[in-house]
Amino acid sequence: MRADLDRILVSAREIATRVAELGRQISADYAGSRQLLAVGILKGSTIFMADLVRAISIPVSFDFMAVASYGQSSSSSGVVRILKDLEQNIEGRDVLLIEDIVDTGLTLNYLLETLRTRNPASLRVCVLLDKPERRKVAVPIAYVGFKIPDEFVVGYGLDYAERYRNLPDVWVLNPEAYQNNSEVKIQSTSGKDHGYDH
Ligand code: IMP
Repeated sequence: MRADLDRILVSAREIATRVAELGRQISADYAGSRQLLAVGILKGSTIFMADLVRAISIPVSFDFMAVASYGQSSSSSGVVRILKDLEQNIEGRDVLLIEDIVDTGLTLNYLLETLRTRNPASLRVCVLLDKPERRKVAVPIAYVGFKIPDEFVVGYGLDYAERYRNLPDVWVLNPEAYQNNSEVKIQSTSGKDHGYDH
């Protein structure tokens, strides 16, 4: 398995330090809010979210959504299917969307547009990793863990073909791992196609 992994890009220790900072910042920004709802996007955000909510010192409840790109095209279409919707009504809530990584921005853009129509009191995004070079649509991101270069990464919740989510550190996947594997495109969780063009 390690042959597929190139090098550690963000270590577990760096992540822990940054998650604690984000938790403090979010707790301060939302101080006084009794309505904070953390919404995790399955499955990639689960490990980040589990750590982040424990670093938040104000009341916070959580919910989850699962999404998939529409169709099987090799590039992200921006049309997203909701596989699992929220269980809670978010009208009047302070919603903090929690994602593992923002790449083209198409998934987050769709989610933000969808959730805005449900009239939350506020709607912000917190991502662990941001790959700004690959952005196709501008999305407002209030909290970023780390800006990273244009490389495919796995670990700390992020997968390649459902593998490596349990790695404590974020690793760069060896490009040969997906270039030589025509059967497994860069896909995640829910069959979402990331349109990775490497
Ligand atoms: P976007 O719509 O292109 O911004 O895609 C975001 C989604 O693509 C993320 O939620 C991830 O599931 C996936 N993704 C993008 N880049 C990576 C990566 O480097 N590793 C693992 N998943 C990724």
